[in-house]
Amino acid sequence: MRHVNLWASLYHTGMATPAKLDPFDIILFGATGDLAMRKLVRALYRRVCAGQIPKGSKILGLARSDLTTAKYLDGVRAHLEKELNPQEFRDADWESFRSFVEYVRVDATKAEDFDRLAAALEGREETVRVIFLSMAPRLFTSACRNLAAKRLVTAKSRVVLEKPLGKDRASAAQINDLVGSIFTERQIYRIDHYLGKEAVQNMMALRFGNTLFEPLWRRGSIAHVQVTVAETVGAEARGEFYDDTGALRDMVQSHLLQLLCIVAMEPPASNDPDAVRDEKLKVLRALKPITDGEVATKTVRGQYRAGAVGGQPVVGYLEETGVPADSRTETFVALKVEVETWRWAGVPFYLRTGKRLPRRMAEIVVTFEQVPHSIFEAGRCPPANQLVIQLQPDESITLNILAKSPGETMRLKPVDLALHFADTFKEKSLDAYERLITDVAKGNLTLFMRRDELDAAWAWVDPIREGWSQSDEPPRHYIAGTWGPSASSALMSRDGFTWHEEE
Ligand code: BG6
Repeated sequence: MRHVNLWASLYHTGMATPAKLDPFDIILFGATGDLAMRKLVRALYRRVCAGQIPKGSKILGLARSDLTTAKYLDGVRAHLEKELNPQEFRDADWESFRSFVEYVRVDATKAEDFDRLAAALEGREETVRVIFLSMAPRLFTSACRNLAAKRLVTAKSRVVLEKPLGKDRASAAQINDLVGSIFTERQIYRIDHYLGKEAVQNMMALRFGNTLFEPLWRRGSIAHVQVTVAETVGAEARGEFYDDTGALRDMVQSHLLQLLCIVAMEPPASNDPDAVRDEKLKVLRALKPITDGEVATKTVRGQYRAGAVGGQPVVGYLEETGVPADSRTETFVALKVEVETWRWAGVPFYLRTGKRLPRRMAEIVVTFEQVPHSIFEAGRCPPANQLVIQLQPDESITLNILAKSPGETMRLKPVDLALHFADTFKEKSLDAYERLITDVAKGNLTLFMRRDELDAAWAWVDPIREGWSQSDEPPRHYIAGTWGPSASSALMSRDGFTWHEEE
């Protein structure tokens, strides 16, 4: 029975008819910022179009700029027209969307500004309140303090915290302490938008909705696992933020470790938020620390130089606006990771992410052990089976097996058993933020990180950064449009493996 429930709830929000929500208020701090404009407003707009935002709900956009609601909506409309395809932007939907929106000028550091927010929320204490902090983490504490001081945190309030939450374990703990003194842990939704991606949910379905792979999902059957999140974009307009962050904090500490957790975790007893998060936590705590002495052999950090991506010339990282000319910030990371459990002892996980790589792509490649003895081609071991889970841009699951090539001789050839989601399922999948915002409105914490998970992730990542900062070696260079420094290939080849695109 349990498996059926898990399956049903995983697919629930992907169905043509969206789940009914109770009216809720969403209070969007940082409403004029990059994330809000590019992702959050679009997600809310789409949910309005899908009829999922009930009448009586409010979307309150909060920022420092002195704007009227009409002016704010002009900016939102311009963004939506740019981001959505023309069929998606219809006047009737826009009218419906705009009826929910109100702009409130609030500087998160100024207590008196919160009176305006209090006025907008008057009499709405019984309505679910989604407080979305889409702004620099250094403002989280003032926003929370001022909300509490003006008694705007109700029993039905939920606070959504964007990543990166802190810069290291200590600063994350400080933010969590303060937020935790105002909201209970069950009111805190720490976002890692990768967990909201349809494909990541499908990993859960693949592993825990089927019995097929489970007996093989362990040492003895699996030789190694690769997780790659490659981007074509560079630091560009985010130069200043990015330089202070780097790929390890921006991508590895959050998205890549969460993907690793989903591959490596034990089956949870149910799809209950804590059952899932308990299992992910166990993986994070089982990660073998990378010590100072190992940083040179188990990690590779890189920084892009001028090159070309998609046929277009691009500048190097040090020429990006807001980046100091002597910056040592990494834009590429490759790591060899070990999970110290009975299931995974001796199975390396290779994680890799970078900006300005040849194509945008996220995938997990599970390589199985080779056959112990080849009966077909003496002295030649056929290539190992692989399960390739492509998360983006297109979602697919491909099992690579060996088949006989037609003809007289017994020759084996790798062939793919492939499932392409766009061809198989006609329903449109939800964008990560659409799913996550509706999950907050529903009160479903499964796809959000618990404090202890975040703490364990920082605890593992911090020593790597410290190891790098103690080393005299700067990040290795790579030309924009390539797969990172050659040391990344060497990291794999030392163990007798190669990255998927190099095979
Ligand atoms: C964000 C990072 O969390 O994820 C960005 O801060 C990165 O640097 C982005 O570009 C990638 O997300 P996606 O969904 O485009 O793969």
